[in-house]
Amino acid sequence: MNKRLVTAALPYANGPIHIGHLVGYMQADFWVRWNKMNGQDCIYICGDDTHGTPIMIKARELGVTPEQFIAKSHAEHLKDFTDFGIEFDNYSSTNSEENRRLSEEFYIKMRDAGHTTVRPREQFWCDHDKMFLPDRFVKGVCPKCSSPDQYGDSCDKCGSTYAATDLKKPGCSICGAPPSLKASDTIAFKLSDFRDFLAKWVPEHAPEEVANKLGEWIDGDLLDWDISRDAPYFGFKIPGFDSKYFYVWLDAPIGYVSSTEQWCNSKEGKARGYTMDDYWKPVGAGGKDAEIYHFIGKDIIKFHCLFWPAMLKTAGRKLPTEIFVNGFLTVNGEKMSKSKGTFVSARTYLDNLDPQFLRYYFASKLNSQLQDIDLGLEDFANRVNSDLVGKITNLGSRGAQMLGKRLDGAMAKSLDVEGLALLTRSQARQKKIAEYFEARDFAKALGEVREMADEANKYFDEKAPWNLIKTDPEATRQVLTSTLNVFRLIAIDLKPILPQYSDKVAALFGEAPYKWADIQKVVLAGKVGEYQHLATRIEPKKIEDMVEASKEEVKKVTDTRSNPQAAAAATAGATAPTKAPAAAVDPGVLDIDTFNKVDLRIGKIIKAESIPEADKLLKLQIDLGPLGTRQVFAGIKAAYDPATLEGRLTVVVANLAPRKMKFGMSEGMVLAASDPAGGGGKDLFILSPDNGAKPGDRVK
Ligand code: MSP
Ligand code: ZN
Repeated sequence: MNKRLVTAALPYANGPIHIGHLVGYMQADFWVRWNKMNGQDCIYICGDDTHGTPIMIKARELGVTPEQFIAKSHAEHLKDFTDFGIEFDNYSSTNSEENRRLSEEFYIKMRDAGHTTVRPREQFWCDHDKMFLPDRFVKGVCPKCSSPDQYGDSCDKCGSTYAATDLKKPGCSICGAPPSLKASDTIAFKLSDFRDFLAKWVPEHAPEEVANKLGEWIDGDLLDWDISRDAPYFGFKIPGFDSKYFYVWLDAPIGYVSSTEQWCNSKEGKARGYTMDDYWKPVGAGGKDAEIYHFIGKDIIKFHCLFWPAMLKTAGRKLPTEIFVNGFLTVNGEKMSKSKGTFVSARTYLDNLDPQFLRYYFASKLNSQLQDIDLGLEDFANRVNSDLVGKITNLGSRGAQMLGKRLDGAMAKSLDVEGLALLTRSQARQKKIAEYFEARDFAKALGEVREMADEANKYFDEKAPWNLIKTDPEATRQVLTSTLNVFRLIAIDLKPILPQYSDKVAALFGEAPYKWADIQKVVLAGKVGEYQHLATRIEPKKIEDMVEASKEEVKKVTDTRSNPQAAAAATAGATAPTKAPAAAVDPGVLDIDTFNKVDLRIGKIIKAESIPEADKLLKLQIDLGPLGTRQVFAGIKAAYDPATLEGRLTVVVANLAPRKMKFGMSEGMVLAASDPAGGGGKDLFILSPDNGAKPGDRVK
């Protein structure tokens, strides 16, 4: 058998793993585990995708280096995957030396073969931040529907897509200043050179739906692809240029190759005897037999089915055997929603529910087709409770516990007629199940498993061992033994999906972790061990808790834009400074860049209430114009009668991380003056702008 190299898309390092991501990583994990238990030499390769402007900006906002930021993401991502039972042979990072070297190698081959051009291109430039602005870093008024605060590539409100330069009133999303147009040389990869190659290659290696869709592109204009970005950028420098960097999507898929290389150089990799080139060069050009499979989501097909094969071909490397594409996850039939709490991070799920359940549920819905899959939260609980717990697990627990408690745990030496027939029918399904796994049709494989469980439960109930045992213990032993043998087969079948579950069942029968070949065996006459707990029903309350926690979590995640140093410098509000960054500066001095990160805005106090239980706090609703209305708790109760504040304009720090307080969330800070020697009680004065200022105006 050929060796198999399986990859899953490299998740961006700029945010946490969420349950949508997990569809793809789990699907690939199921398939890799299937391959491994079936005796196939197979490795699962992944890593973080770490470059690009968003990561650079995010690190800057947090007051850490990009390297520190991506190191933290790497650890968090890997922990999330591990806790979900997703097991990579190597989990690397695109910011590695291997990846730098390979990216240069790819680029030089592209350049030397004449597939690149260098041409000036006009882009938005922010003179304040001294950088070219990617589309996502320009905000303005949608050219179609006039909604304010929309990104430079598409409108959230009306869904239209456009060029950043079409936005009305464009502004830099970092500092708010209007950008100007500036020309700079860009390096582009001439995709049109690969038209004939792609027209043939794509339909043979990508799913039909994808090939049909890409066919339109391949027949139309295959536009040049910009592979360079100007400094400042977090990424790899392009050889031969002073301050140009590879666009993140250039070095991201090369991460598959560099992560393979790292693994090949590991102890385990060396023991398996293949080098990176063995995997990634064609047979006859320095490579060996090995199949490469990419699992990706449907939003990134252009990169994997057009650019990537063209890059691999140019670099003289092996092309993937097949690209598998999964659809998107919806929750309760809708796009995952932050406000509805259905945008659930991997960690929030794990804090509330058993990871096996999501694996089971996704598997029960996944097939080889490119379809969106829905996590219906009620359906999720029902399916897990009725199938996995009610039908499958019950079979094992009833059988093993009765045998253990009433019949010394000893299995029968032979089966009764119906029991034998039942087991034979279950065994007969195994060939089909193997085919389903091979074809990644996990839903059908689990369908067979459920039917096996149904038949076994029916047999068990008809035989009524709880009665039979009163008159015929040996016949009862046979009933339990037949039932347990079906359960054992189920546990082998479940191994790719629920590896820990399967291992526990193997231990129950005193066996080593299952291999596919174990389906051929029937366990008779041995003793069963002590039944270990396998799965408990989902309580609907846990799902509600998860949804609630996700609503809170999203507030935290989307508002980490504050600067801790700046927060420490401000005063009267109730928002406390967050943890100081690693590279702290003398708190007595504040450099201008740091100060500029404090987003000071004019706010209009639209509502002010006293909180009877709090000595110092007033609860304010403050209108920040385009930034919306914020709730702020301010420690100014002793100085102001709330009624006198309503309608007043004041100055607010608008980019502090929201803080959960006893009385609710505080989403900003009101600036107030006080004598440093004073107690900060009655003699506090909030700041007011002169006439003409309006809510949302920037204070500089
Ligand atoms: N960094 C790129 C991939 C580079 S591969 C060389 C990227 N990262 S991502 O974090 O945005 O997405 C990682 C994977 O998760 C992709 O395959 C993407 O399609 C998938 N999904 C992201 N959101 C998803 C859903 N809501 N549902 C299903 N898959 C989703 O893209
Ligand atoms: Zn700017």
